[in-house]
Amino acid sequence: MASITIRNLDDEVKELLRRLAAENNRSMEEQARVMIRAAVDGQIGSGRIDQIENTLRELTSMHSAATAVAAPAGKILPRGTLSGKRILLIIGGGIAAYKALDLIRRLRERGAAVRVVMTAAAQEFVTTLSVGALSADHVFTELFDRNDEHDVGHIRLSREADLLVVAPATADLMAKLANGHANDLASTVLLATDKPVLMAPAMNPKMWSHPATRRNRATLGKDGVTFVGPARGEMAESNEAGEGRMAEPLEIVAAVEALLDAGPKPLAGRRIIVTSGPTHEPIDPVRYIANRSSGKQGHAIAAALARLGADVRLVSGPVSIADPAGVRTIHVERAQEMRDAVEQLLPADAAVFVAAVADWRSENSAGEKIKKVAGEGPPVLRMVENPDILAGVGHHSQRPGLVVGFAAETQDLLRNAQAKLAKKGADLIVANDVSHESGIGPSGVMGGDRNRVRIVSKAGVEEWPEMTKDEVAARLATLIAERLKTIVV
Ligand code: CTP
Repeated sequence: MASITIRNLDDEVKELLRRLAAENNRSMEEQARVMIRAAVDGQIGSGRIDQIENTLRELTSMHSAATAVAAPAGKILPRGTLSGKRILLIIGGGIAAYKALDLIRRLRERGAAVRVVMTAAAQEFVTTLSVGALSADHVFTELFDRNDEHDVGHIRLSREADLLVVAPATADLMAKLANGHANDLASTVLLATDKPVLMAPAMNPKMWSHPATRRNRATLGKDGVTFVGPARGEMAESNEAGEGRMAEPLEIVAAVEALLDAGPKPLAGRRIIVTSGPTHEPIDPVRYIANRSSGKQGHAIAAALARLGADVRLVSGPVSIADPAGVRTIHVERAQEMRDAVEQLLPADAAVFVAAVADWRSENSAGEKIKKVAGEGPPVLRMVENPDILAGVGHHSQRPGLVVGFAAETQDLLRNAQAKLAKKGADLIVANDVSHESGIGPSGVMGGDRNRVRIVSKAGVEEWPEMTKDEVAARLATLIAERLKTIVV
C-alpha cells in the first residue's frame, strides 16, 4: 500500500498542511489523510491555495467532528485566541527549557502553529524528539545542513512567522542579539527577522543583574524587543533565589496574545498608573511586615489596560509573578517608596490603586538584626501610619481625571466602600469581599485566580458576577476606557 511522504510535497502545500495540522492538533500525516478523504468525497474543488484553504478548514473540522468518537486521540480544539498565528519559538539552553514544552502545548491549544528552533545548548536540556512531538513539526537546529530535507533556511524561518518567541532567553542569546552576532541558527534567525520578538529571560540572578546583561536588556528594549519576566523567586538550582526565573508559560502566552492582538485601542495615548502587590515594611534588616497580596489582580489590570493601548506604568510591591509584557514596571518594597514612585509618575490620565499597602510600619526599623536578650522578653514595636497613596493622589493638585481604588473588606462591604470613595477622593471603588468563603489562599480572593467584585461610584453600585481575575481586569479596562472618553484632558 502506498504511503505519503510529506517532505516530497511542494512547499506551499506543506505549509498549509502544517498549519491545519497544528490547528486541529493532528500529525501532518493524519491531516493529509483527512484532506484526501475530503477530496475523494469531491468536497474540495481546484483553485488557488488560499482560496481552497477556507474550504479545507471547514471540511477538515467537519471531518474531525464526524470522526471524534471513532478517533478519541484526535482531540478537537476550539478556535483559540491565536488561531491561524504562526509562532517561531527559539529555545535557548537553560534549565527553564523544560517549561518551553508546556509553552508549545499552551500556544497550540489556542490555535497557534508552533515551529521550533533549538540551540545546541537547549538540546542538552530537552530533546528534539519531545519538542517535535509537541509541535507536530520538524525541529530546526542547524544553520547549514544540506543533508536535511527540512532545511528551509533562516530567512524563511523568520519570514514564515508572525512572531518570534525566545524562551528561555539566555544571557548568551540576549548578548548575541544585542550585539548583532549570528553564528548559529537561533542568533541568525533573530538577526534576520523583521517580525516582532518576545524574549522570556531565564538565568541565574547574578547573571541577570550583571552590568553586561543589564546593558544588553536596555539595548534590546530600545531595538523594539518586548520582554516578559523574569520573575523573582526560587531558582531551579538549589539555594538560589532572586530575579531570573523564567515567566510561567501562561504569562508568556498572555504576552504573545497581547503582541499579536489587533483589537481596538481606545486607550492609545493615555498614560495610566497602576499599583499592585503588597508592601514590605521592615522591622530590621531580615524581618518585615507583609500581607497576602499576590499582585495577580493588579498585574492583570495593568496588562488589560496595555492591551487597550494605554501607556501603563505599574508600581509593584514585592511579588513572585512576572512583570506584564508591554508594561513599564517600577519595583518598590515599602509604602513610602510606592508613594514616591507614584507621585513621580504624575501627571496621568488615570490611576488604579490595587496594591494592598501596609497601613502601618515600624517607627524605627532597626539597622541591625534584633537579637533575643535573656531576661528582656520580646521587643515592643511602635507602629506609625503609612501615607495613604490613593488618598494623596485623589486630593493631589495633579489629580488624574479618573481615580480608581480597591476596597478589601471583611464586613459591611458596601458601606465601607462608599465611605472610602468620599474619604479617598476616588471616582470608583472596586469592592471585594475577603471574608470567609471568598477570603484568603489559593482558592480565595487573596492569592487565588478568581474574584467577585462590585463597582461602587457616586451613581450607585454595579454587581459583577464571579469571574477570573483576568476577566475582571478586561472588564475594568473597558470601563476605564469608556469613562475616559467623557473626560477631556
Ligand atoms: N491604599 C493606598 N495607600 C494606603 C492604603 C490603601 O493607596 N496606605 C489604597 C489601596 O490600594 C486601595 C484602597 O486604598 O485602593 C483601599 O485600601 P484598604 O486597605 O481596603 O483601605 P484602608 O484605607 O487601608 O482602610 P481600612 O484598612 O481601614 O479598611
